[in-house]
Parts: sequence; structure tokens; C-alpha cells
Amino acid sequence: MSDRFAACRDVFAHLNVDRFATVSRRTLLRGLSASALTTTGSFFTRSLWGAPAFLANPFTLGVASGDPTPEGFVLWTKVAPNPLERGGGMPARPVEVKWAVSTRDNMQQVVREGTTVAHPELGHAVHVEVDQLEPERDYFYQFEIGGERSPVGRSRTLPPLGAPVRQVRIGQVGCQSYEDGFFTAYRGVADEQFDFVFHYGDYIYESRMGRSSSPRAAAGEVGEAFTLDDYRYRYSLYQLDPDLQAAHASAPFVVSFDDHEVSNDWAGFWNEAGALAEVFALRRAAAFQAWYEHMPVRKAQLPHGPDVQMYRRLVVGDLIAMNVLDTRQFRLPPACGGDYKRNCAEAFETRRTMLGETQEGWLYDGFKTTRHLWTMLAQQVPMMRIDVAPDPSRSILSMDMWDGATAARDRLFGAIEDSKTGNVIVLSGDIHSNWAGELKKDFFDERSATLGVEFIATSITTNGDGHDIKDNDRKRMAKQPYVKFFNNQRGYACHIVTPACWEVDFRVLDKVTVPGGRISTRMSLVVENGKSAIAQA
Ligand SMILES: [Fe+2]
Repeated sequence: MSDRFAACRDVFAHLNVDRFATVSRRTLLRGLSASALTTTGSFFTRSLWGAPAFLANPFTLGVASGDPTPEGFVLWTKVAPNPLERGGGMPARPVEVKWAVSTRDNMQQVVREGTTVAHPELGHAVHVEVDQLEPERDYFYQFEIGGERSPVGRSRTLPPLGAPVRQVRIGQVGCQSYEDGFFTAYRGVADEQFDFVFHYGDYIYESRMGRSSSPRAAAGEVGEAFTLDDYRYRYSLYQLDPDLQAAHASAPFVVSFDDHEVSNDWAGFWNEAGALAEVFALRRAAAFQAWYEHMPVRKAQLPHGPDVQMYRRLVVGDLIAMNVLDTRQFRLPPACGGDYKRNCAEAFETRRTMLGETQEGWLYDGFKTTRHLWTMLAQQVPMMRIDVAPDPSRSILSMDMWDGATAARDRLFGAIEDSKTGNVIVLSGDIHSNWAGELKKDFFDERSATLGVEFIATSITTNGDGHDIKDNDRKRMAKQPYVKFFNNQRGYACHIVTPACWEVDFRVLDKVTVPGGRISTRMSLVVENGKSAIAQA
């Protein structure tokens, strides 16, 4: 045990139970009479697991940090001695967890520390919002409970608001189907030591798993997730992976969610299984609770039943306004029943939306009121027109992407134009392949205005090893000249953002179906400040 936590324990030893009881009684006073307090006050004291002890280290799911600001970030862990068991192997009692933030990776020179309560209602997840730190610097953090310490994680604060920024390095990841392969890409992410990592979603897959051909067949068969315990099991299974843990411990994550955190292609309260909206709301609530419990997000992202405030804005000095968008909760049922369709007129209805009216208003107001060199839309499904038919005489579009709501895309492009927002960079995922494309006001007219550039990062594992570009891919690109790059291997994207350029490196793996795949840079592209065009770096 380090001196640091020996000191922590001394400090908190005499505070533990009394401090919690005091808070509980104060809370209680709001709802109960004084006489009720005298009979129930001791109940709250007893409910705290005051002297936790473990047979093995309970930080089995690692540590994470997220949503950085210039002053701090969220710290996350989960107390789960047996994470795949119902309840995580914990008693159904709240318990205190100590945390500390240091400027050194050996956890000497602690600058902030405290104690928080891990509640059984939240699966003993821990979310600490640390503030009062210095901007634009690395910090290290650790948790401790019952004499057991967590691994040490690295996090990093953002530059001061409005301040000039020389360079920021951002990772882009998502789509990590456990049974499709190994998370070697996350080992690469960990080595990058990013300023922060954007996760576009599909952190888990909810579908039935356990096919015998899976490289991870050892995980066994697991039925489709519907209940809170089902979803918790998925997150635990995934977060036991050492490469994923290494990535989380290497840099703060800014997470969103896509469909598979809940159900394939869900849209608002529509779900492909056809459950009534009121019934699907229960599933959404369970899925969102598990998402919150396992993600390094702020209390503002604590779900309220089936609803969660996911969209939010992070600001990186004077360099980037990062709009994290929610393209799932506010949709209508998909055009023409969803999936890939030919000639679907419903996709062109003006009522179609990807963000919903409130979020659209928030985003477009932001275009007018926040002025940064680069405006990032960090979101889930492809925004550019993607015709997957290689045959030039017909087109097939996904109703689950922005192609399924063209009026929503037109409104967004109109807002970008009206507000004269330049240097728009869209980060997306969802289709398990790498794409770079120019967002045209009219995708059928090469000479029409380019309103931004989209970089779609491939999956960490989903769809297995994949391959580089093939003949049919070339035919598709020939039909869509605004698509400047395509690749169908697994990996992640690395963005290097400066005042002069936005550069992206597409890192790919030769294999994910075996451990230890080799990572290489498949392509480096660059967008120059003011150009809205993709060039090779
Ligand atoms: Fe996916």
C-alpha cells in the first residue's frame, strides 16, 4: 500500500459512518417528522457497509475518466469483486470508496482527494466529478476500498476556454462486438495517450451471443439483453477485457451511444421486435441505467426512466466546439420500415428528424453563439449519402442513417450555411468500415458547396477481420465522387487538430480474430483551415 492511501485511511477512518449518517439525517428531515427520525435514524447508519473486506481486488472492471473540462473530469470505477455474478458479488448495501488525483503516476503529490458512496441501486458504480484542477495537463487517479487499491489511470484536462491551442490529439472508436474478435485496437488506443477519445457507440451488443465460430466462444452462450441484469452482464463481460481497460486508463473518454446499447436500429420508441412503445420504454430504461453505471459520464447523464440527456457540448480552447449528438432518442419510426431500401419516398418527408426539434435548436443556436476554429459534430450514423449498390443503375440506401431522413440533413446543412459556420468536421461510426467524404449541399452535383467533411471510423471488432478495398467498393466510390477514402478493416481513427489543419490517421489491424493483431496506419488525410476539402497528408 502506498503512503498516500495509508494517509487517506487515517484521515477518513474517524469520518466514515458519522459523516454519512449526518447527511442521511439531514436528507431525511425534509420528508419525515422529528419523531419519525428518532426511530429510523439508526437504520441509515446500519445500512452503510462500514468495514468492507474482500478476498480479492474488487476493481475487476478497471478505471476510467471522461468528459474533461479545463478544471477537471469525471472519474469512474465499479466495485465488483465478481462482476459476472448478479450484484457483482457485492452485498446490497452502500459503501464508501476513496479517490485521489495526483500530478504523478506513482500517486505521490495528491492534489485532490475525497470519499464517495457506491450505491447498490447503481450496481456500486462510482462517478466522481473532480474540479479545481489546472487546465491542459495530465493527472493520475486511483480508488481505494477496504485496503484494496484500483489500477492508476491517466486523465487530462482541456485547455482554458477561448485560449489558443497548439495541438490536440483525439481518438475515435466504437462498434466493439465482443464475440467478433479481440480488442487489440484498444491496446493501440492506450499507447496513443490521446488528449481524449470519442466513442461513437455500440460499446456493447445486446443481441444473443455465443456462436461456436466466435474467436471468443469461451465466453459461452448468452441470450439477448432485456433486463437491467442482462445489460449489466454485457458491460461486465466487455469491461473485463484488459485492452479495453488499458484504453480507458490511458485517456478520458467522451462517450455517446448508438443502437446496440439498447436494441438493433431502435429509433425513439420504435424497435424492430415490435414491442409496444410503453414496453420498449422499460427496456430503454434498463439499458440506459446500465450504460450510465458503466460509463464515465456526469450526473447530468443519469437517466430519468427511459430518457437520458446525452447530447452535450465540450469546448477545447479556441480550437474546437465539440457537439456530441444524440441521433437515436428523438427519431420517428424509420422510413419504409427501416433497414436498407430502394426508392423509399418516406425518407424524403419533411417531418423526418435525426435530432428532434429541441436538439436541433440547441445545435443551431450553438453555431451562431460559439465561435471556434473547428466545429465538430461527434455523432453515430453516417451523414453523407452512402449508396451501397455497386450497380450504377440503381441505389440502395440505409433508412437507419441520415439517408433515411434527408430533410433533417438538409435542415442541418442549411443551419451551417446560414450561420456561416466553416471548418465543420463530422465524426461518425456505425457501418464498420473507414470512410472519408465531403458533405455536399447536393450530393449529385460535384460543383455544389461542400459544407463539411465527414470521417467515419471503422469498428474495433464488429464484422471480424475484414479486408482492404475491393472491386465492388471501387464501383461504389466511382458513383459517389465525394467519397475520398474507403477501407474495410478494423481499427480506430487518430485526429491531430491544429489551427492550420485537421489531420486524420486511419489505423487498421491485419487481424482481430486472433490476439495480437498488427496495427498500421492505412491512410493519412488532411483538411486545411478554410478549405472544406480532403487531401492526402
Ligand atoms: Fe456497430
